[in-house]
Amino acid sequence: QAPLIIAPSVLSADFSRIAEEVATINGSGAKWVHLDVMDGRFVPNITFGPKFIKDLRPCSPLVFDTHLMISEPERYVELFAQSGSDFITVHSEATVHLHRTLQLIRSCGCKAGVAIVPSTPVVLIESVLDIVDQVLVMTVNPGFGGQQLIPSTLRKISDLAQIRQEEGYEYVISVDGGINMRTVKEVVACGTDAVVCGNAFFNADDRALFVDQMISLARE
Ligand code: DX5
Ligand code: ZN
Repeated sequence: QAPLIIAPSVLSADFSRIAEEVATINGSGAKWVHLDVMDGRFVPNITFGPKFIKDLRPCSPLVFDTHLMISEPERYVELFAQSGSDFITVHSEATVHLHRTLQLIRSCGCKAGVAIVPSTPVVLIESVLDIVDQVLVMTVNPGFGGQQLIPSTLRKISDLAQIRQEEGYEYVISVDGGINMRTVKEVVACGTDAVVCGNAFFNADDRALFVDQMISLARE
């Protein structure tokens, strides 16, 4: 069993000191950096765009996991690919031609992810699971950090793990929202490979210790 992947979300970082904040991710033992892009339309908040990610690229050797919470993400896939994203994840609810959008991400040289909000069932993405590298199960309604995990989302994690096994797929299952030392064990037990941590990571007194403890809790 591979160790749990921790993906700190820069959404909870202090943007005025972003390079320092990213340096603490680099030094923490986390393997991914999670980049939450919000457009004020698909979700009721606005964050940053491709330039921000491009500027951060030289600051970190880690995997850049870009989570697009934007309407019609297909219009911006190429730009986010050029910004140095490794994964580009789009919401199934935000694009009409989801299959085409995922193919576009791969054709730009990135790994393709599909995300679902708490009210979207797994069945709505079943027909694209053969062409994705990551499935992101939102465990809160997207838009803000620091919310509480919604328990009804957990079943989707186990369903995705079961489908992966039955069909021989290889996607990474990740969860996003309300993940901390109290909730990590349950999501890992359901079959999660990667956890996004916003507030829990950035509020930890010792971020490296936090990552260590999360990985240990996942092993128990
Ligand atoms: C929520 C974002 C998350 C967020 C998670 O809309 O997609 O990535 O940063 O933050 P926490 O871990 O604080 O719930
Ligand atoms: Zn996210």
